Amino acid sequence: MALVTTKKMFEKAFAGNYSIGAFNINNMEIVQAIVDACKKQNSAVILQVSKSAFNYMRPQYLKHLVDAAVEESGLDIALHLDHGADFEICKTCIEAGFTSVMFDGSHFDYEENVAKTKEIVDYAHARGVVVEAELGKLAGVEDEVKVAAEGATYTDPDQALDFVKRTGVDSLAIAIGTSHGAYKFKGEAKLDFDRLATITEKLEAAGFHNYPIVLHGASSVDQNAVATCNEFGGQIKGAKGIPVEMLRKASSMAVCKINMDTDIRLAMTAAVRKSLAEKPEAFDPRGYLGEARKDIEAMVEKKITDVLGSANSMND
Ligand code: G3H
Ligand code: 13P
Ligand code: ZN
Repeated sequence: MALVTTKKMFEKAFAGNYSIGAFNINNMEIVQAIVDACKKQNSAVILQVSKSAFNYMRPQYLKHLVDAAVEESGLDIALHLDHGADFEICKTCIEAGFTSVMFDGSHFDYEENVAKTKEIVDYAHARGVVVEAELGKLAGVEDEVKVAAEGATYTDPDQALDFVKRTGVDSLAIAIGTSHGAYKFKGEAKLDFDRLATITEKLEAAGFHNYPIVLHGASSVDQNAVATCNEFGGQIKGAKGIPVEMLRKASSMAVCKINMDTDIRLAMTAAVRKSLAEKPEAFDPRGYLGEARKDIEAMVEKKITDVLGSANSMND
C-alpha cells in the first residue's frame, strides 16, 4: 500500500461531478482527524503541506505519519506540496516521496510562469509525480472580489488554455473570486462561475478532455467556530468564507480539488480554547488536542457530504 498521485482521483471526480478535498496538515491530530473522517465516508483525500508546514513537521516525521495514514486507512491518499515557490522546494518534496507538487508562479509575469512551470513539470513527470500550477492571482481582500468585473487578477480563459498547452501541467488552480484566509468577503460572496465554465469549454475544445481545475482559498469559515473562538477569548472579527452551496456548485463543474486550511485552523482553535476555558484545572494535552481532533473530524465529514460530494469515491 502506497501513496497515489491525483491522476485517477481527478478522472473519477470529474466524471462523477464531485471534487477531492485537499486539506493542509500540520501535526498528528490533524492528519488523524482528516483521515478518520475520510475513512468513515470511504473517500479519497489529498493531504497537502506548505513549505512552512514541511519545516514545522520535518520531512521524516511527515512522511512516516502520512505513510501510517495510508497503511491504517487503506484509502487512496496523495501527498501534495501546497504553493511551492521554486524549483528547489518542488525537488526536495519529490525526493521526500510526495506524489504531487504545486508550483505557484502566479506572482511571476506570464512567460516566466510558463517557463518555470514547464521546468518543474518535466522534472516531476520523469519521476512519476504530477504537478499543479496557478494562473491568475487570488483576490486578496474582499473589495477585489466584489468588483468581479475588474478581474485583472482573475484567470484569463485564453491564457489558461495557452498555459496548459505549453507547460503540460496536470491541473490548474484558477482565480475566480476565492481568497486565502478567514476574511474573504465583506459584502455578498461572489464567484465567477461563467469564467470557470469558459475555461473548461476552451480546454475541452482544444482536446483537454475533463481537465481538472483547482480551487484555492475555499474555506467556508464556519460562523459557529468563529463564535466559539470569540466566546472563549479569541478576537476574530468579520471573518467570512465561501458559502457551501457555491463550493458544491464548483465541485459539480470542472473543479476536482478544493483546498481548505482555514476551516481546520478555526475548528482546532475553537476546540482548544473551549476545552481550556471550561476545564481550567486540566493540563493533559490529550484532553484539549483530543477535543480538537474530534471537531476537525466532524468538520471534514461535513465537507465530504455537503461540499465535495466525494463520499464512497473509493468504490468508483
Ligand atoms: O495557502 C496556504 C495555506 O493556508 C498554508 O499556510 O504557509 O501558514 O502553512 P502556511
Ligand atoms: P483557505 O485559507 O480558504 O482555507 O485556503 C487554503 C488554501 O488554499 C491552501 O492552499
Ligand atoms: Zn492556496
